[in-house]
Amino acid sequence: MTHKVSVAPMMDCTDRHDRFFLRLISKNVMLYSEMIATKSAIHGDRKKILGFSPEEKPLALQVGGSNKKELSEVAKIAEDMGYDEININLGCPSKKVQKNMFGACLMKEPDLVSECIHSMVNSCNIPVTAKTRIGFDDIEDFNYLNMFITKMKNAGCKTFIIHARKAILKGLTPKQNLNIPKLNYKIVYKIKKENPDLEIIMNGGISKIEEIRNHLKICNGVMIGRAIYQNPYFLVDIEREIFNTKNNPTREDVAEKLIKYLEKEVKLGTKVNHIMRHAVGLYHGQVGSKKWKRYLSDNMMARDSDFQKAKHIMTIVQNNEKVNQTIA
Ligand SMILES: Cc1cc2nc3c(=O)[nH]c(=O)nc-3n(C[C@H](O)[C@H](O)[C@H](O)COP(=O)(O)O)c2cc1C
Repeated sequence: MTHKVSVAPMMDCTDRHDRFFLRLISKNVMLYSEMIATKSAIHGDRKKILGFSPEEKPLALQVGGSNKKELSEVAKIAEDMGYDEININLGCPSKKVQKNMFGACLMKEPDLVSECIHSMVNSCNIPVTAKTRIGFDDIEDFNYLNMFITKMKNAGCKTFIIHARKAILKGLTPKQNLNIPKLNYKIVYKIKKENPDLEIIMNGGISKIEEIRNHLKICNGVMIGRAIYQNPYFLVDIEREIFNTKNNPTREDVAEKLIKYLEKEVKLGTKVNHIMRHAVGLYHGQVGSKKWKRYLSDNMMARDSDFQKAKHIMTIVQNNEKVNQTIA
């Protein structure tokens, strides 16, 4: 398992269908679930909420919570279900999440967080990792961040994903909190330099191979969210340039395998749009992208879309491939 490049946990995006799709494009990136609240993991329909296909691995479960007992129970469940890692969310600033005492507001409670991590580490044998921000509200201070990280390290966490902007807990929407606070990569580099024994993963605003290479000179890995969700085939550049993989799949290969997965899933009762909505960006930046998007939105993204429409999709894919090859 490597954290060299991972795809960020994203609510309403990185569900199991999206992860299956991304895994068709990249074998080497680490994948994360959407954030799952401890209570839903414990009391909800486990297969529906936590189930995944073995092809998605290596896969981490991201959990939201601040109750030691619940968190340790979820860590054990994650291990038993075959997840490769359990990650605690210490970075989400949404109001609902704050009300339930998880996410970024936990940056104010380093002792509570380390107790939580300690009990998770003691209840499972998979790595317990943390995803946090560099600060919150008025606090963007190296000493505070380093103290927070040191406490978690002493509790048994060795891998930290750091979103290099602070969270504003009052007054900004979650979306604004992904753009407005300024990126500060230097503070993350400094954390790595101060803690060479820790695995430090950089997150926030990364969308180019060159940027990945630069962060990897200092950090152990990068985590990328929006740039991959919007342009999933960027993963092929990552495979080729960062992992030196040869013979990567074409978009056509990916579409073909996705349709096979769709056929199998539809028989099990999955809705067509629940899978195909994640594939909208497959032709991002290519000739034919508009046609692809239009076909998906006209035929495959309605609630009652049916599988028959999927068969025609390969004609569009093949036409797109032809045009793009002529241009290249
Ligand atoms: C739609 C969306 C949903 C997100 N959901 C989560 C989440 O469930 N857990 C989490 O830790 N971060 C979540 N994030 C934050 C991302 O994991 C990531 O930290 C952030 O997008 C910055 O990385 P990027 O600039 O590469 O997108 C979400 C971001 C987006 C855009």
